[in-house]
Amino acid sequence: MSTQPGAERRRTTVRDLLDMKQRGEPIVAVTAYDYLFARIVDESGVDVVLVGDSVGQVFAGYDSTLPVTIDDMIYHTRAVRRGVKHALLVVDMPFMSFQVSAAETLRNAGRMLKETGAEAVKLEGGDEETASYVRTLVRAGIPVMGHIGLTPQSVHVLGGYRVQGRDSIAAERLHEEAGRLEEAGAFSMVMEVVPAALAAEITSIVSIPTIGIGAGAGVDGQVLVLPDMLGLNDTFKPKFLRRFAELGDAAREGVRSYAEAVRNRSYPDAGHSFE
Ligand code: KIV
Repeated sequence: MSTQPGAERRRTTVRDLLDMKQRGEPIVAVTAYDYLFARIVDESGVDVVLVGDSVGQVFAGYDSTLPVTIDDMIYHTRAVRRGVKHALLVVDMPFMSFQVSAAETLRNAGRMLKETGAEAVKLEGGDEETASYVRTLVRAGIPVMGHIGLTPQSVHVLGGYRVQGRDSIAAERLHEEAGRLEEAGAFSMVMEVVPAALAAEITSIVSIPTIGIGAGAGVDGQVLVLPDMLGLNDTFKPKFLRRFAELGDAAREGVRSYAEAVRNRSYPDAGHSFE
């Protein structure tokens, strides 16, 4: 499904991602939180746009994703929806929107899809209860992307943002979680910050696409948080992150030039003024 920028494209579906895994074609996913960047990433030909609850950190400046609300996610996803014409649009279910009961999970996921126009939801965790909620959503016609490994909504249980699945017990747990999500009907799963060999092993076993972030090259696709990969969130430097642009520097430079031009009265000049 991956398409060169500018080429004619139809909308990506969850089925396309499965086909890409079968063809061994890497899936490109990235987050977005607003209309303008959504348009840029969609026009650049990515396969999946995720409105992540990372919006809490990279947009709102919280120190975790925990304060993010359903209304926050709906607001940002509606903006992103207006810019995404081709990629599959996935919205993250925020903390406490899917942990309470199957009925509440279904109501919240339904609301998020109805009010945003997103095509799928993502939720964190692979324990039996979460898998049963995934099954409930899929049965209701809501495609679900799972998320295992470092699940930021559980940061206080995990004791920080650290690599998951390092010892054999934790690795076995991740295997079980991946199997459960697949069996529950998830169409794909994010694997966040796990050893590359473990992520590759799980990827070779499950039939649904794995999308890694800090999970090495042996997964079916990659996802990055847009402001991190573009160098806007330039104090965040985890080992797995490569910066593909330096927009933070470019933005600071642009604003400095503007301030200087206003102060030395070179802006606005005649060319930027009306007769
Ligand atoms: O919230 C988010 O942006 C995510 C990605 C890191 C996968 O969950």
